[in-house]
Amino acid sequence: MTTEIRVLNAEDDLISAANVFRAAMVGFPPLSDLQPGQITKLLDPGRTIGAFVGGKLAGTADAVTSTLTLPGGAIVSHAAVTHIGVLPSFTRKGIATGLVQHQLRDFAARGEVVATLRASEATIYERYGYGVASSFQTVEIQTARAAFRSGVPTGGPVRLLDEAEAWDALPRIYDAHRPSRPGTIDRPAVWWQGLRLRSESTPGARYIAVHGEPGNESGFARYRPIDTERWFVSDQRSIVVEDFFAPTSEAYVGLLRFLLGLDLIDRVVFWMLPLDDPLPWLLVDRRAARVTAVHDETWLRVVDAEKALAARKYAGTGAVTIAVNDPLLPDNSASFAITGDGVEGTNQRAQIRVGIEGLGAQLLGGTTWRSLAAAGLAHTEDPAALDVADQLFAVADAPYSGTFF
Ligand SMILES: CC(C)(COP(=O)(O)OP(=O)(O)OC[C@H]1O[C@@H](n2cnc3c(N)ncnc32)[C@H](O)[C@@H]1OP(=O)(O)O)[C@@H](O)C(=O)NCCC(=O)NCCS
Repeated sequence: MTTEIRVLNAEDDLISAANVFRAAMVGFPPLSDLQPGQITKLLDPGRTIGAFVGGKLAGTADAVTSTLTLPGGAIVSHAAVTHIGVLPSFTRKGIATGLVQHQLRDFAARGEVVATLRASEATIYERYGYGVASSFQTVEIQTARAAFRSGVPTGGPVRLLDEAEAWDALPRIYDAHRPSRPGTIDRPAVWWQGLRLRSESTPGARYIAVHGEPGNESGFARYRPIDTERWFVSDQRSIVVEDFFAPTSEAYVGLLRFLLGLDLIDRVVFWMLPLDDPLPWLLVDRRAARVTAVHDETWLRVVDAEKALAARKYAGTGAVTIAVNDPLLPDNSASFAITGDGVEGTNQRAQIRVGIEGLGAQLLGGTTWRSLAAAGLAHTEDPAALDVADQLFAVADAPYSGTFF
């Protein structure tokens, strides 16, 4: 049977696609209680695609129009890819491959520079040219041991916001204080709508704390208690901080002091922090903070290699030539001469050869050329070229986005 892939626009089709994705994910219940027209507020028009087999919707993929920050601060166009799912009865027939390839050609036609996604499994997306470009760590703090060093500043005022106020305030705070860290992405209106829907349909307590004077806030934390069955008598009352947006050092320390100082709370779990987060340095007893997991975060697909390489900054005075190979988007198969001053196309023999998935892993500076070479994802006959490339691609801040989508 032939598979037809097309853009979905009708409300019924969009709801069917959302439910195909949710059935594919197994652990997500079908959508319910959506108001008429609400689904269209959760999606970017023209971005949801469906794969039909014999007229039946069997798979779907989505993207949201966004931007992404590269090393050095340049912000490039970005497709935030999400909701890829194929019904269990139709898997391993090439449907996801057709959807992802369709998407990537569409992104290239739109002139988008990169695409990123969060992967449910680590074995799916490399074959389509995605590489792991950033990671996050989960950190647990035992509050009884978490005294701050005397030199740590106090930070600004923090207050709780009602959820009703928060859905106006949080997007405003995020947009006004977008971090310069590589890997930062937009949080567009559809993302906030989706978060609000999930949040309002999840039972249980949840809180939003904002940092800064009213009207001039500079950060926020969304947190909720977990394991609440024996809350009244528990000696391990815990909160999980699901969203910690602290882009200035004042907001960082202000929110941290607020969260670690909450009455009753024995354990604070930061679900996502960048790998270079300074938290242990702020504590007298650094072992009060324990890293409990490190997860891959941004899977990045370079859609336009020339634009992506030209837009990021390079460190130092070295020079290296790199040949990129991209069978799916052949315009990216080219060689580039890279120096601290920038990038030019070149016909010279390349010192390093890399597939588009390796370039995606390297673009934000979240790994080293040495690691890629050790893994067989980059190739060279000149190991010294790897050191030069590593100096050029080095970044001051570990890449990180801090969101799922
Ligand atoms: C992941 C998923 C979309 C793949 O769909 P699919 O239509 O079966 O994929 P394809 O048939 O196009 O498979 C392409 C290749 O990827 C491999 N592959 C697909 N899913 C894989 C998985 N979960 N783990 C390992 N390999 C996988 C296939 O074996 C195939 O390999 P081949 O080209 O060497 O033969 C589908 O399994 C699914 O919906 N899973 C549950 C939802 C999910 O995890 N979605 C991703 C959210 S980020």
